[in-house]
Amino acid sequence: MYQVPKLTDYSAAALDKAVADLSAALEQECAAVSNEAEWKALRDRWMARKSGVLTQVNDLWLKAAPGEAKREVGRRVNELRAHVENDVVTVQERMAGRTGTGLATEGVDISLPGIRRAIGARHPVLQALDDVISVFKAMGYSVEEGPEVETDYYNFEALNFPPNHPARDTQDTIFLAGQESKPSRDRLLLRTHTSPVQIRTMQKYPPPVRVVCPGKVHRHDTPDASHSPLFHQVEGLAVDTNITFCDLKGTLDHAMKALFGSSVKTRFYPSFFPFTEPSADVQISCPFCGGKGCRTCKQSGWIELLGCGMVDPNVFEFVRDNGYDPAKISGFAFGMGADRVAMLRYGIDDIQLLFQGDVRFLEQFV
Ligand code: DAH
Repeated sequence: MYQVPKLTDYSAAALDKAVADLSAALEQECAAVSNEAEWKALRDRWMARKSGVLTQVNDLWLKAAPGEAKREVGRRVNELRAHVENDVVTVQERMAGRTGTGLATEGVDISLPGIRRAIGARHPVLQALDDVISVFKAMGYSVEEGPEVETDYYNFEALNFPPNHPARDTQDTIFLAGQESKPSRDRLLLRTHTSPVQIRTMQKYPPPVRVVCPGKVHRHDTPDASHSPLFHQVEGLAVDTNITFCDLKGTLDHAMKALFGSSVKTRFYPSFFPFTEPSADVQISCPFCGGKGCRTCKQSGWIELLGCGMVDPNVFEFVRDNGYDPAKISGFAFGMGADRVAMLRYGIDDIQLLFQGDVRFLEQFV
């Protein structure tokens, strides 16, 4: 085993040799260590305060060195100390199952099971919105969006709901507070339907237009199995020369078959909306019972799904400047509840489930 020699010759060559002998011995002893106990013995032999190799080097080489050699010997002894400490730590890491330097010393146990990250998925309402949109995209429609906080003008007035008209009472509006000083058409509200996007679209583009407008809407409704103060709609608008009610019927009949299956039938009922004339409600034959009558369709065989109609000439008057002369063009519009579509497509019987954020419910639609 290596013994620290006394030095008699302090020439550079002699010092080099002494250092080289010590380093070679260190290397050999480090390589021989194969367990924790051996590592401890190595550490004590080289680094123990009282009689470790480093202490002996300090006594036998540095302290004994003549004055003129002290500086050089001191420098070499310091280097040796760092060298020994570093090698001893490296062996310790090797004993702890670690090797190398840097990242590799972090040590990864590849036998541990991994952490599986749940992959996100579209919410069923978003899926329904996307499905409706792709049916209309295939017919050449583009997509427009509008703000969820809307002015009275876009939500009501330009859609032919005059101020104080009782038709406004059919939509339980959520107005923003503290706007009494504003003219009524500028007052802000949470839009009650996506129909204001019709006006915004016609202001933006001259005819012809074919757009669908998906989005959130709000009404001051008490929540129950079929009502939610927040819900979703898809609006549709087609304006061109010679658009007729036949175009409207054919378009919606095709869309309903694309969404609910080719055996689904549609029927149109007279209705009223201020912004369409004539107006209709559309029902589809119940996709669950095929029209025989079941719980979902309340035994009627039919389910009401959307409102529609021919754009009222009064609405075109609000955008006449942008090329919408009601004597030259015509159009149809429709609006459907996207939550309704999701519920029918996935057989969900309570609209509240869509908005409670319960992962156990939502996971079923991944
Ligand atoms: N905006 C109506 C509502 O929320 C739905 C609607 C009916 C939209 C007829 C239309 C339409 O575009 O033509 O009740």
